[in-house]
Amino acid sequence: MLPPSLLAWGRPRLRDLPWRQVRDPWPILVSEVMLQQTRVERVVDRWPRFLERFPRPAACAEASPGDVIAEWSGLGYNRRALNLHRTATVVVGLHGGDLPRTLEDLLSLPGVGPYTARAVLAFAYEDDVAVVDTNVARIMARWTGRRLTVREAQGLADASVPIGEGWAWNQVVIDLGATICRARGPQCGDCPLASGCTWRGTGPDPAVGSAGVAGRQASFDGSDRQGRGRLVARLAEGPVAGSDLAEAMGWPDDQERAERVAAGLVAGGLVVSAPVGYALPG
Ligand code: ADE
Repeated sequence: MLPPSLLAWGRPRLRDLPWRQVRDPWPILVSEVMLQQTRVERVVDRWPRFLERFPRPAACAEASPGDVIAEWSGLGYNRRALNLHRTATVVVGLHGGDLPRTLEDLLSLPGVGPYTARAVLAFAYEDDVAVVDTNVARIMARWTGRRLTVREAQGLADASVPIGEGWAWNQVVIDLGATICRARGPQCGDCPLASGCTWRGTGPDPAVGSAGVAGRQASFDGSDRQGRGRLVARLAEGPVAGSDLAEAMGWPDDQERAERVAAGLVAGGLVVSAPVGYALPG
């Protein structure tokens, strides 16, 4: 367990982020889905714009999947946009247009896993549950000095939440991971947990290989992901002819790669292949 004194250290240092000013579950869900794989600074820019366009689940459900994917363009991992659209549709169809209130019902929504479901409970409803993403799992592994299973990390994190402080506690732990207990270059000299931390920055990092801790991300330049991002950005402007596909993806000399990667997007429902070429789903 982490010591509850962490709260007194972290509360006055909380980063002033716009989603920390709200408790409405839909905007919270959108922020947490964005934050999973996109940098905070970019989410600060794009979160208000997305919510202006889709202020409620119903507005998102009424739009076409392609409209939501187009609005998402540039944030990366566009499957998240498709899942948000599907979630909005389920919320309207089964829950009267508002996000459900229980862990079980949240987990049944498309694209909502243990992290996101608990983030909605902690950050919208202020429930005393622990939000465990890669960064939090890293803190728990370093604190205990050993590799942890997902279940162990969640159990230790849950037991650490001070009663009635679920909202602030989780935001403090997230900020500790972002600013001090970083994956690379941890700032143990400034860490309020250093005196009780088993690892304390020396020897092999117990977080590496721990369940729930991702490795270094593959390079973006020249990746399939980069080509997918370029195509979705182009399709947000309108359909692309088959003959323009390779150029749109940034691979003018590799038609075969372009078609193969585009086929993956079509199989995933992010893109449709129309007679004219490719388009976002209507
Ligand atoms: N990353 C994931 N959730 C976050 C939050 N609520 N604030 C800042 N960064 C986050």
